[in-house]
Amino acid sequence: MNKEKLVETVSRLMAIPKGILAIDESTSTCNTRFEKLGIISSEENRRVYRELLVTTPGIEQYISGYILYDETIRQKTKEGKSFTSVLQEKGIDVGIKVDMGTKDFSPHLGDKITEGLVGLAERLQEYKEMGATFAKWRAIYTISKETPSEACVQANADIFAEYAQICQNEGIVPIVEPEILIDGDHTIEQCFDVTSRNLDVVFKTLKAKNIFIPGMILKTSMVISGNESLKLSPANDVAKMTIKCLLKYVPKEIGGIVFLSGGQEDDEATRNLNATNAHSPLPWPLTFSYGRAIQNKALMSWAKNPFDISTAQKLILVAAKANSLARMGEYKTT
Ligand code: 13P
Repeated sequence: MNKEKLVETVSRLMAIPKGILAIDESTSTCNTRFEKLGIISSEENRRVYRELLVTTPGIEQYISGYILYDETIRQKTKEGKSFTSVLQEKGIDVGIKVDMGTKDFSPHLGDKITEGLVGLAERLQEYKEMGATFAKWRAIYTISKETPSEACVQANADIFAEYAQICQNEGIVPIVEPEILIDGDHTIEQCFDVTSRNLDVVFKTLKAKNIFIPGMILKTSMVISGNESLKLSPANDVAKMTIKCLLKYVPKEIGGIVFLSGGQEDDEATRNLNATNAHSPLPWPLTFSYGRAIQNKALMSWAKNPFDISTAQKLILVAAKANSLARMGEYKTT
């Protein structure tokens, strides 16, 4: 394992004042988002939309890495230039989502397990040839009376460890993404308990499998109340509880921690990130790896005016800049 190379990639990704942009929605997730806005689901429309994201002028000031999906990493601009070379020329690292989605965890109703380990090393070798330097694997957990079960938490942690080991052997930085879903009426305290229990198991398992912790990134959900909860979590509470949980369960030597936006309102995700970074100094770099919170407004604008690429790109830049400021604790709500 080339530890030096892994650490170098991590430091580029976590460089101040930047964060990561996730544009790795699977074809079906992307189509669902398109359909909601009346956009026809076609490979060409997905390509045009992703081209807009990849070619946003100036985005490299705020974004260190883009996470792509299998379809996207193979796509080109209308002039025939690969998306990967567009990004590389801007000094942006290319990432790739490598899990193959989730399926029911049969021992326990309501839990999900993530698939995609079969043939992973070969897929990574191909992605590496295409320019990828980091990868992402996501597991999801629902908070309810019965879920997530201990068995499911452990099973996903075992899979994370295998995935991370395969990535690191290939010189690819693994992003490990355990997402506690925001769906439901749970309290912030319940979210704290489930996130703590999960991160505890994930890191014990990664360490037991000798994963090189400085050469990986944790992508986590924030500790926050559910979206059907009667009590919304103020940013200070989200920040306090999230940081408390991360300080207790994430090793100090980890390369970095990034947040997903997970269905929070765009500005809420930015304010919450800002509040967490107001807690500095922290033992690890902490930034964003948002999908929806950066893309939402641009996608809506493009849906309304598909020929006005420039307005959509400006909206991407504004959202990326706001989160870059939040990453430094310097974001001010207008
Ligand atoms: P969201 O920020 O939209 O949650 O997407 C981030 C991501 O990569 C989810 O896997």
